[in-house]
Amino acid sequence: MKVFIETYGCQMNVNDSEVALSILQKAGYERCDTLEEADLILINTCSVRDNAEQRVLGRLDVFRQQKRRRPGVRVGVLGCMAERLKEKLLEHPAVDIVAGPDAYRDLPRLAAAVSVSGKQINTLLSHEETYGDIAPVRMDDEGVTAFISIMRGCNNVCAYCIVPYVRGAERSRDPQSILREARSLIEAGYREINLLGQNVDSYRWKGEDGASLDFAGLLEAVAELDPKVRIRFATSHPKDMSDAVLLAMSRHANICRHIHLPVQSGSDAMLEKMNRKYTRAHYLERIARIREILPDCAITTDVIAGFCGETEADHEATLSLMRAVRYDSAFMFQYSERPGTKASRHFPDDVPAEVKTRRLSEIIALQNEISLECNRPLVGRCFEVLIECMSKRSDAELMGRTSQNKSCVFPAAGHKPGEYVTVRVLSCTSATLRCEIV
Ligand code: SAH
Ligand code: SF4
Ligand code: F3S
Repeated sequence: MKVFIETYGCQMNVNDSEVALSILQKAGYERCDTLEEADLILINTCSVRDNAEQRVLGRLDVFRQQKRRRPGVRVGVLGCMAERLKEKLLEHPAVDIVAGPDAYRDLPRLAAAVSVSGKQINTLLSHEETYGDIAPVRMDDEGVTAFISIMRGCNNVCAYCIVPYVRGAERSRDPQSILREARSLIEAGYREINLLGQNVDSYRWKGEDGASLDFAGLLEAVAELDPKVRIRFATSHPKDMSDAVLLAMSRHANICRHIHLPVQSGSDAMLEKMNRKYTRAHYLERIARIREILPDCAITTDVIAGFCGETEADHEATLSLMRAVRYDSAFMFQYSERPGTKASRHFPDDVPAEVKTRRLSEIIALQNEISLECNRPLVGRCFEVLIECMSKRSDAELMGRTSQNKSCVFPAAGHKPGEYVTVRVLSCTSATLRCEIV
């Protein structure tokens, strides 16, 4: 039996697809790279914004055509949309299996049961499941960077956000299983490890001996495995990001100089309504602390435009915060109401669509300007980059990243993914540094 899997959403979903594949391989399935070969087609889905869900629904129509052509094919919907929509998804003619984020161990059984008793569903959320004992099947073909989920779920209730509802309660994974996985990745030749969680700063493990390990401790333990292996992590939460994490970074050159610190809004009124539990002043204090402890650290963020009740003054506050922080880059979104969230129950989605669009384009235009201004002074400087892959545009060129997560493109000159090289920056755009190897 061959299984094809397609993944939408965040890095945690990418890692979950690797876990699901591992479970299916143990049950005798073989992974394939095209829809046409697959006996089982899986789509791992995201519910964070409506457009993410629309894209998945479009794909289900494509899978339905596959099923018409090849009647034995089964289709399974995994992940956050499976958890959010549950039985409703089974009504879709293409769908045979619905499995939520904590139900992947059950996939072989669900798939086998379809032939006997028809459509199958498992959307139970767990307080314990971390898939700690499962060795994910890595999907990065170059074998350079890998993800490790250090925790699952989220205990925050940001008013706009569906994640806690579809991912369940927060649980941290046993550090021994994290270190074991990291060691085996390093032995397999991986050069960069990404530690993932919705809020890594609240990672906490209590051992049987009563000793406890926080994120700063875990980060150091992983970084100490091999100084030639880079460590990245996401996502940090401004209310929880501690000096201990910054100090751990400063002690280890292989923990990359990049912090993703989603701000969402620069207005205190919006932050309060979003239930983010920090103020603009607190956020700026955290930024100042990063700059003080890690002067060469890149900072990136997420911003939402047009949250419920957002005024022109709130929007201006977001723009002024962006100018004050000078983010290296940002993910920027229009607010999308998600059914069942606190915002959907209590606050009208009252910023008109055209206003959201205009505010978002102002935010994007400002960020592009700032990104370019951040990159310009890098021209002429040299950086160590880890080569990840061929450049998208040409096979004669390679793409690698600096510790600050800046994309560098340069002529290959006989080098390969997985190698560290030093490059000099020749020119830049807001998104890419053009370089030469020195
Ligand atoms: N746990 C992370 C990321 C969660 S989702 C964090 O706390 O930052 C990634 C990003 O999607 C969020 O940071 C937010 O900017 C955005 N997002 C979440 N829900 C959204 C919604 N309903 N509409 C628009 N953007 C949303
Ligand atoms: Fe969503 Fe907030 Fe949790 Fe991030 S911290 S996943 S934005 S609820
Ligand atoms: Fe990730 Fe989307 Fe789920 S952002 S946690 S895949 S809702």
